[in-house]
Amino acid sequence: RRNFMAPSYVLAIDQGTTSTRAILFDKDGQVKAIEQQEFPQYYPQPGWTEHDPKEILQSAISCSESAMNKVGAKKDDIAGIGITNQRETTVAWDKVTGEPLCRAIVWLDLRTAETARQLSQHGGRDRFRAKTGLPISTYFSAMKMRWMLDNVPDVKKAADEERCCFGTIESWLIYKLCGGAAENVHVTDVSNASRYMLMNINTCKWDETVCREVGISTVCLPNIKSNSEVYGHVKNVPCLDGLPICGAVGDQHAALLGHACLDVGSSKNTYGTGCFMLLNTGMEAVPSKHGLLTTIGYKLGPEERTTYALEGSVACAGRVVQWLRDNMGIISSSKDVEILANKVEDTGGLTLVPAFSGLFAPHWREDARAVAVGMTLYTSKEHMCRAALESTAFQAVDIMEAMKNDTGLRLVDMRVDGGMTVNNLLMQIQADALGLPVLRSKMAEATALGAALAAGLSVGFYHNKESVKVMVEKAGGYETFTSTTTYATRQKMQVRWKDALKRSFELAK
Ligand code: G3P
Repeated sequence: RRNFMAPSYVLAIDQGTTSTRAILFDKDGQVKAIEQQEFPQYYPQPGWTEHDPKEILQSAISCSESAMNKVGAKKDDIAGIGITNQRETTVAWDKVTGEPLCRAIVWLDLRTAETARQLSQHGGRDRFRAKTGLPISTYFSAMKMRWMLDNVPDVKKAADEERCCFGTIESWLIYKLCGGAAENVHVTDVSNASRYMLMNINTCKWDETVCREVGISTVCLPNIKSNSEVYGHVKNVPCLDGLPICGAVGDQHAALLGHACLDVGSSKNTYGTGCFMLLNTGMEAVPSKHGLLTTIGYKLGPEERTTYALEGSVACAGRVVQWLRDNMGIISSSKDVEILANKVEDTGGLTLVPAFSGLFAPHWREDARAVAVGMTLYTSKEHMCRAALESTAFQAVDIMEAMKNDTGLRLVDMRVDGGMTVNNLLMQIQADALGLPVLRSKMAEATALGAALAAGLSVGFYHNKESVKVMVEKAGGYETFTSTTTYATRQKMQVRWKDALKRSFELAK
């Protein structure tokens, strides 16, 4: 029975590195129901991280169903579905069976270090930068595809027989939710595509030369679509059947939208497993000379113009807190990090460089390793917790500096969101390390809101992208943390951090 009332919600599926969430947003962009589920991480060897694509799919479906149940929503109450996702993580599946050919290789996985080294040998790490906006790094999807082709016989065989589909997580979810092998909806959105290291950043098409040089056939790659259009309709998932999937945006790009960073020079920083700062550079793809990535901001419709961004990606932020909890046993839950760190005035001379997965922007050193510098017998777990928080803040300062150097723009504040931002102490340390105000969004779900906006726009549920400004305001706007440091104090912090960084690189030699 059709519900002839207008739908009340857009459903956003936020598929992150450690958990999946489903969120229902209303017409005003406010959260009406939310469900979150963690899913298993697989670490088959040191430095390797894998996800099971089927477990991810299952978590997306069951989160959606639970979120809908919370408000008694039926599928007719939903205008459409937007997907936002951990980027770069790569899935390979068989076009004939629709089944995965191996586990997904996660973005922070380091197994492709040797492939990256070999590829950089001729022409250096930046040989594809002018075309793709990216340096060669273990981080990007192309490296993971290359590894699968070289090391997983099923993937190689499927590729030889033109049965292999590669895709990032949104691509996999759209494919499966829209009927799998029977329908073969093999697409990716332009923001996720900009992280494959195979897309020409200016034309937004797969670059044949780069694909050939990396050894990936374009036959295996999805079609690149905008962030806001109907990619297909859900099939064989009872609670969602028939609904259009009408938005897909990489999570950091979605957060840019969800923070209403629609103007040139506006930026946001999201603190999740890693920490990702994006700066809107408008219609121009700005090349970086300071270790940032040139990436897509968003493209809200097939006929819309592309907005670009510069990005500083940090591999380890919240992950450090998890490490303190799961590997070191220093805290028993993530929130304890703030309690312990608050018990000491400073780190007692300790500096931590969390290069557990190498260092991403602005250094791009997969060989860097984590170091703790300056320990004495006085060093305590409280100091360690404080140093962990500082390490996140210092990495964000490096990114902010690189952004200023690349664009000449003077950034006046930092808008933040993500799991770690509940930590007031971190927010204060961040403001102090930057010497700038930190604005914490009260719209805690900025990423999902971005996906909801993209989906809602394409089916007329939302009317224009600017309405996101009102949505953010309605959710309470921003809370400000003001810097309390002098220039001299910040300089001292920088000297200590730079010294520790040097040691992390030395360890790599
Ligand atoms: O590039 C990786 C990023 O998209 C992962 O985000 O929030 O899952 O840590 P998150």
